[in-house]
Amino acid sequence: MSQRLEGNVVVTGSNRGIGLELVKQLAEGTGEETHIYAGCRAPEGTGAEALRDIQTQYPGKITIIKLDMSDEDSISAAVQEVNKQIEAGGLNLLINNAAINQPGPLAPLSATGKKDMMDVYETNVVGPFLIAKMFLPLLKRAAEMSSPAKDMEEENMSCRRSAIINISTVISSIHKCPETFAQVQMYPYRVSKAALNMLTRCQSLDFKRHNILVTAIHPGWVRTEMGGSEAVLSTKDSVLGMLTIMSSLGNKDSGMLVDWQGNTIPW
Ligand SMILES: NC(=O)c1ccc[n+]([C@@H]2O[C@H](COP(=O)([O-])OP(=O)(O)OC[C@H]3O[C@@H](n4cnc5c(N)ncnc54)[C@H](OP(=O)(O)O)[C@@H]3O)[C@@H](O)[C@H]2O)c1
Repeated sequence: MSQRLEGNVVVTGSNRGIGLELVKQLAEGTGEETHIYAGCRAPEGTGAEALRDIQTQYPGKITIIKLDMSDEDSISAAVQEVNKQIEAGGLNLLINNAAINQPGPLAPLSATGKKDMMDVYETNVVGPFLIAKMFLPLLKRAAEMSSPAKDMEEENMSCRRSAIINISTVISSIHKCPETFAQVQMYPYRVSKAALNMLTRCQSLDFKRHNILVTAIHPGWVRTEMGGSEAVLSTKDSVLGMLTIMSSLGNKDSGMLVDWQGNTIPW
């Protein structure tokens, strides 16, 4: 069943690309009960101008939080900041969107070294692991605060209640690797996203008892700095699709990898 997203939402990597559009559409499409915590590495910098503009357009609805997903202290400080602002409330939705692809867009074997493998793993896997762990008390609180109606007890998980969405990619799929590897190698990136899928699966099992949904979503091939100018989707269409899918995710979708149109992608 589709439910409008609402509540307290954290989006990482929100100053450009898909993250920026997520903040924009969440601000546009939700009511007063929604507050968006937009994580970004340099809130005061020129790279966050577009995000600050959106914040001005929706007064009181967006808090920009300094957050570097490769830095444990930064994640911890951001979680404390959100905790302080949410006061007695909970965190309904954590969207792990921030990610990097190194070295360069194609990242073939010949150009990829240890540092690329480590850097990408740190941002794309360790960051989402740590932030989910640190936000767990707030996610649990959100789940406890909104018990489903009696007739909905079977379907007790949703992005409206308490959820983690990990933005993954179709090229993380081991099953689809024979198809996708021929198009692009991207060693560090695809390996990191396969690990993010495993994190999604593990946390979905671990957090099920708290009624927290955990799902990975592939946004499609999107025109951003990472996706490049040849990509087939605009950020607008990708995010519209993903938010529609997020609003309808339920118990059966936890621990799965789906695309922006809701199709399940095999691991
Ligand atoms: N575009 C595609 O075709 C495509 C396809 C499949 C999956 N995805 C996934 O979709 C998500 C968004 O991608 P995108 O295309 O929007 O990428 P993008 O245009 O390169 O934007 C990446 C965002 O992540 C942030 N970021 C990078 N490292 C960070 C860190 N250590 N801490 C905090 N923020 C950090 C960047 O901030 P700075 O400005 O500070 O660098 C930026 O806001 C990623 O998870 C990506 O893997 C994208």
